[in-house]
This record gives sequence, C-alpha cells and structure tokens, in this order.
Amino acid sequence: MLAIEQYTRRLLKDFHPIVAANRPPVDVAHEPADRTRFVRGAGGLVTGLSGLALATGAVWVASVRDGLEGELEFDGGGEPMMLETTDGSRFQVSWVNPPRLAYDLYYNTIANPLLWFVQHYLWNLAEAPVLDDSTHLAWNEGYRRVNQMFAQQVVREARRGRKRPLVLSHDYHLYLVPRLVRRELPDAVLQHFVHIPWPTPQYWKVLPSYMREEIMDGLLAADIIGLQTHSDVRNFLLTCEENMGLPVDFRQQTAFYRGRTIWVRRYPISIDVREFERTAASPMVERAEREILRWRPEQLIYRVDRMDLSKNIIRGFFAYERLLHAHPEWRGRVVFWALLQKTRQDVPQYREYARQVVQVARVINQRLGSDSWQPIRLELRDDMSRAVAGYKQFDVLLVNPIYDGMNLVAKEGITVNRRGGALVLSENAGTHEELGEWAITINPFDVDATAQALHRALLMDPVERHARAEKMRAVVQQNDVARWISAQLQDIRDLVEPSAARRPEVGLHEPVPLERELLR
Ligand code: G6P
Repeated sequence: MLAIEQYTRRLLKDFHPIVAANRPPVDVAHEPADRTRFVRGAGGLVTGLSGLALATGAVWVASVRDGLEGELEFDGGGEPMMLETTDGSRFQVSWVNPPRLAYDLYYNTIANPLLWFVQHYLWNLAEAPVLDDSTHLAWNEGYRRVNQMFAQQVVREARRGRKRPLVLSHDYHLYLVPRLVRRELPDAVLQHFVHIPWPTPQYWKVLPSYMREEIMDGLLAADIIGLQTHSDVRNFLLTCEENMGLPVDFRQQTAFYRGRTIWVRRYPISIDVREFERTAASPMVERAEREILRWRPEQLIYRVDRMDLSKNIIRGFFAYERLLHAHPEWRGRVVFWALLQKTRQDVPQYREYARQVVQVARVINQRLGSDSWQPIRLELRDDMSRAVAGYKQFDVLLVNPIYDGMNLVAKEGITVNRRGGALVLSENAGTHEELGEWAITINPFDVDATAQALHRALLMDPVERHARAEKMRAVVQQNDVARWISAQLQDIRDLVEPSAARRPEVGLHEPVPLERELLR
C-alpha cells in the first residue's frame, strides 16, 4: 500500500479524513493462549475500506457489537483507540456505543432485514414485509437514534482536527448520517458509498414514504454518492427523479436538491491484489491447501459465502443435484465444497435460512451419496486461510447470488486460483459488469441453466479455461482496490478544485493519468 499511501496523503493533505461504517475494521481473535488479539474484520465492506482507511490515515467511527463489547474497556464518545491487527495494520477506531435495544432495532429490524431485503429484492411481496407501528418505532428508536449517535461522533472527531473534514460514510446502516453531519459542519466534504445494489424506484416503494424520503434526504446531503455499478447509478438517479421529483442529469450523473448539485458516481470496489497474493502464499494457507489435497476429487466445485439469503446457496445445491441427475458420469468424480459462515443470527430469516441450507445439503447427500463418496462437502467455518486455500484449488467457482452489490469472492478466487479454474457467475452480481465477458454467465433463478453451466465449466477445454482465467485476473489486477480509492479521491479533488480539468468517467481498462502513478 506504500504507493497509494503516499499518493492519498498528498491528495488529502488539506483534509481531516473520517470514515464511518457500522462495522469496525477489526474482529477479536481468541488465540489459544488467552490473549485478546485483533484480526482484520470480515465482509466486503471491511475488505475494501481497510485499504482506504490505512491509505488515508483516517479515524474509523464504528459501532460496538456484542463480540467486542466484552473485550474492550471504553466509552462510546471517547478518544479514538489505536488497534493493531495480527498482520501489523494499525487502525484508529472511534466507537459509538448505542444502547443494546436501540442497536437491536437499528441492525436487526431496519438494516437487516428491511433495507437489505429491499436492496437485494429479497422480499416475497405477496407475504412480506408486513409493516406496522412497530416498524415505525424501530425506525425512530433504532435507526434514527443510532444514525444520530454516529453523526455526533463524526462531528466530535471532525472538531478534534484543524483541517477541513472529509467524511466518508458507508452503506445502508448510515443513510441519515450525511444530512445530520451537514447540519453541524456545513463546509465539510461528504461522500457516502453504498456497497449493495440500488434497486428500482418502484421497489423502494415497499418502504413507507416517511422512511424512503428520509433516506433520500439523508443521502442527498452528501457531495458525492458512490455506488458499485452503472445500473446502480442509473437506478439511483431514477429514484431521485421518480420518487423525489428532482431534476437529474443522466449524462453528467448529477442530481439537484435543495440548491446543491450532487455527483452520483460508480466506483466498483475491489481487492488488494498484491496483499491477497501474499496471503495465498503464506504458510497457514499452504498448510490448509495440503489438507485439501488429501481429499480433493478429480474436479472441485467450490463456493465460499456468508450464509446470506442473497447468496442463493440453496438454488446452487439444487442446480448441482440436477447436474448429477443429468450427467451421472460426474458421480464419484466431483465434489461441491461449500465453505459457509453463519451471519446475522439474531434475524429470524437468517436463522431459518441457515437451517434450510444444512437440511438441503444433507438430503442431497443422502439421496445421491454412497459409502465412498459424498456429493456435497458442507463446512460451516469462518477460516480465512482455508477459504483462500479453496480459492487456489477450485476447478469451478460458483458465484450465483440473487443480487449482489459487487461480490469479492469472485475477484479473490480468480486472483489466486492455480488451476485455471472457471467462474460460473450470476448476471446479477455487480462484478458481472467487469468479469461477465470471460465468466460463464447464469440467471441465478434458473437451476437447470445453472446445472448446464456447471457441466460446461467442468468440461471446458483446459486451454480455453486458462485463457479466460487469465483475462479475468488481468481485469482484477487493473481494477484493484488502489483504483477504487484513487478514483474516489480524484473526484473529491475535482469537486473542491473545480478549476482542475474534469476527467472522463473511469473506464474499466484504461488508467486515467493520475492513476498511472499508482500502477505497480
Ligand atoms: C456486506 C455489507 C456490509 C457488511 C457485510 C457483513 O458486505 O455491505 O455493510 O458489513 O456485508 O455483514 P455484517 O452484518 O456481518 O456486518
């Protein structure tokens, strides 16, 4: 990260950068000796944002969660803490410590599932959601309250510095933060990045008007709104136009609100390719790989995911079952390894989904397995080294989300795979905009088409498979996380120095001049 650190520090020398995200950059790792140590946090947001925070030296405002609460002694609202992770990264974390009930309403009622389900089109609208006064209460006492606490903490951090605040707030948990911060710091530069899909204006109407208007009013207090894909940008502008009646400019990608111009831009998030390659070559990963080599079959289909409904794990199993019916010749020669992590277990829909995932895998294994061969290897485990070892070993990576903001599994997998593996990729994953040309594209709802895609991937001529893998790897190398960061920072610079020449929208394959400094 050295090049990007120098570059961002230069670009941001006049700013006091603050990141705000629900999740902190670290998780607590319990080592065998009873010392508390920190590891880098999990999930797409933390992966991308850690680089940004380290590169900018930003303070990271985050919420206390159960796992950390017992481990750290601190007061929300206090001074930032310097936390060092096992890989030597140092993060300044400034904590928001909401009352437990408020956090529960904010996280487990409004953010997940309500907003998450709306933004991934997960509601089965004939039946759910059923909104009532309790939703209104959760909005007022949970979502608004925690957003207010985040905004207060951001403002406190901003006032500790002497330079102009630059607030980079993130994701669907914090949609109200830009407005609340703008009230206190009218001259701050505010950018809000949304990591998940932005659905159509019609689908937003699942939410009552008080909620969706406050969300838009909150977000549109930012100077720049960052999204993952072209389609998200378009849907956002359409939402401004249709649901808010605002003038928008699709060519310039701007919306006009309360006398201000808001830039709505696409910054596809990515991974730190170099660092990820280093991880893949580490002794821990190599050890995990040796273990996999002891049992891996002739062909390995792999998936690694949080057990989220958006990831479409069950249809993936159904598709695989159909493959084994249609092509019995694969029986005994292929294994579908699903390495899954439990997530959001306080939300009933997630608990039920986790139960179903396990059940479906068991039934398929009972129906089709034998004493010597189990078609699905299901592991519920949060083990980064093992996940990366799986990336190196797959022949086919299945990434079939219903909808996904980006999906870094696809990018991580093709970066470190050693077998010229194929990628079977949902057309509704954000990463499809970058990798679709060389992946095998599927409609994630069509289990027969997915089965055929798996078959095609397994049979693909090795020369073609390697050639496609190379193309995809080159795209990820080109558009790695340094580019995600630099594209945002250049826009921020252009915003505050309007005289600087406007650059064209970042193309996928051609670096813009300032980025050349970063290409390593
Ligand atoms: C996605 C979201 C993030 C979130 C992550 C993990 O990547 O965009 O905001 O942090 O999932 O989910 P969790 O609820 O465990 O933070």
